[in-house]
Amino acid sequence: MQRSQELAEIAAATGTLPELPSGHFIDGGYTAAASRRVMESFDPGCAEPFAVFACGDAADVDAAVTSAHHAFEGVWRDVPAAERGRILARTAALIRDDAARLAVIESLDSGKPLGEAEGDVRGAARAFEYYAGACDKLQGDTFPIGPGYLGYSHHEPVGVAAQIIPWNYPISTAARGIAPALAAGCTVVAKPAEQTPFTALLLAEILKRAGLPDGVCNVVTGTGAEVGAPLAAHPGVDHITFTGSVATGIGVMKAAADNVTRVVLELGGKSPVIVLADCERERALDGVIGAIFENAGQICSAGSRLIIERSLHDDFVADLCRRAESLTLGHGLRNPQMGPVNSAAQLGRVAGFVERARRRGVAIATGGSETVDPQTGRGWFYRPTIAIGCASDDELVQEEIFGPVLTVQIAEDAAHALALANSSQYALVAGVYTKDFSAAHRLARGLDAGQVYINEYFAGGIEVPFGGNKKSGFGREKGLEGLLSYCRTKSVAARY
Ligand code: NAI
Ligand code: MG
Repeated sequence: MQRSQELAEIAAATGTLPELPSGHFIDGGYTAAASRRVMESFDPGCAEPFAVFACGDAADVDAAVTSAHHAFEGVWRDVPAAERGRILARTAALIRDDAARLAVIESLDSGKPLGEAEGDVRGAARAFEYYAGACDKLQGDTFPIGPGYLGYSHHEPVGVAAQIIPWNYPISTAARGIAPALAAGCTVVAKPAEQTPFTALLLAEILKRAGLPDGVCNVVTGTGAEVGAPLAAHPGVDHITFTGSVATGIGVMKAAADNVTRVVLELGGKSPVIVLADCERERALDGVIGAIFENAGQICSAGSRLIIERSLHDDFVADLCRRAESLTLGHGLRNPQMGPVNSAAQLGRVAGFVERARRRGVAIATGGSETVDPQTGRGWFYRPTIAIGCASDDELVQEEIFGPVLTVQIAEDAAHALALANSSQYALVAGVYTKDFSAAHRLARGLDAGQVYINEYFAGGIEVPFGGNKKSGFGREKGLEGLLSYCRTKSVAARY
């Protein structure tokens, strides 16, 4: 805690932080881009660049994939599972040792409040701890194929696993992909988002300190077009986990198809939160506020559509507006209740959605405008916004905004709420607030979503499989199912 305060003060005084990594992390060390180019990363809290990093291209991707391929064939696939587990466990411990610095860097680079970044770093450590324990439990099966035969299977690592990572949860998304990949015996080439490159690089460095052999985890930084696209199309990549927008995900899937490469796609969401009249009111209010304003709404699983029973609507929405208006805004390192959005482009996108909605006559009950850090007059901020009386087919209800904008729809009863909730091209998560156990589980059964949260939005952790249906993607991360994404089954049938 002490250390994070010191670092936050250094950042406030100097506009940057000491000893940030520069260069890609390839084959066990930092290396400049082949082209020698660099690009800037911004501090969204003041809308200024604070550091440079390597601007990679296809040559760097190729070097990283080659390194990962050799490390897979020659080293990592044959390291005993228990030893892989020990390295991952040490990684978890080292992340915890370095948590203050990682959180400050994450907050500065992404804009998110320091407290949220600290939670993300704890989550990253937990992902390594969880998969550390899973390495030597990855058991195969036997099959009853008759007397005189032996049938069995085991899980082989897939090979080189690419991780294409977004800017909203840089270290958590990196960890939840890299940890199971390494646990399964895969090697990794990770490509963090160009808005937030630093914590993935530091993670690779920490893995090396924990004893990970060179080349097993590589990180190439740069843009989606120059690094992401060649990585997705690289014939040496055996698996791709992509988290990001639907449009880019479709492109990644098409590129993967040419090499028949496996993909897990974790795409957007427009997740409903159903609040029934018999809910525990305070709990539901806290839940709805957190679901949309945490990380300024830049969460694939943000609860961005409130669907509420009519009898509760007016008072509940009035309370929501009061709470939204009282949220403190500011630079992430001052740990406000809400930080900036991540980039000028994202701010423009959010503002555009709300402006178009206003022109269509949608009522904006609170918020609905850009703002700045009240202390410095700078940064990419958008006020916590609540739009009411929204029609189910309105753009604001149907499209992922990825910002602090909540829409409110009225439901006549639970069945109507369910129908409204499922009227979406997305199906990532859904929330339910009710004291009625049967109603909750009837809804959980009927909701089209990869996961359902009952009476606590964002409940659960690394143990719980996570992923989407419909346009939200397919495949699951986290949990033991997340581990199997990085495995392929080999079955053996023998006559004796
Ligand atoms: P994006 O999907 O383009 O970026 C995500 C990652 O993909 C980044 O690392 C990016 O560099 C990489 N990428 C970009 N183009 C690529 C390509 N052609 N091939 C391979 N990789 C590529 O998302 P972007 O532009 O940052 O944000 C746009 C919208 O996407 C947001 O407003 C939001 O709605 C959605 N989004 C959803 C996320 C989620 O968690 N599901 C995360 C980030 C964005
Ligand atoms: Mg940044």
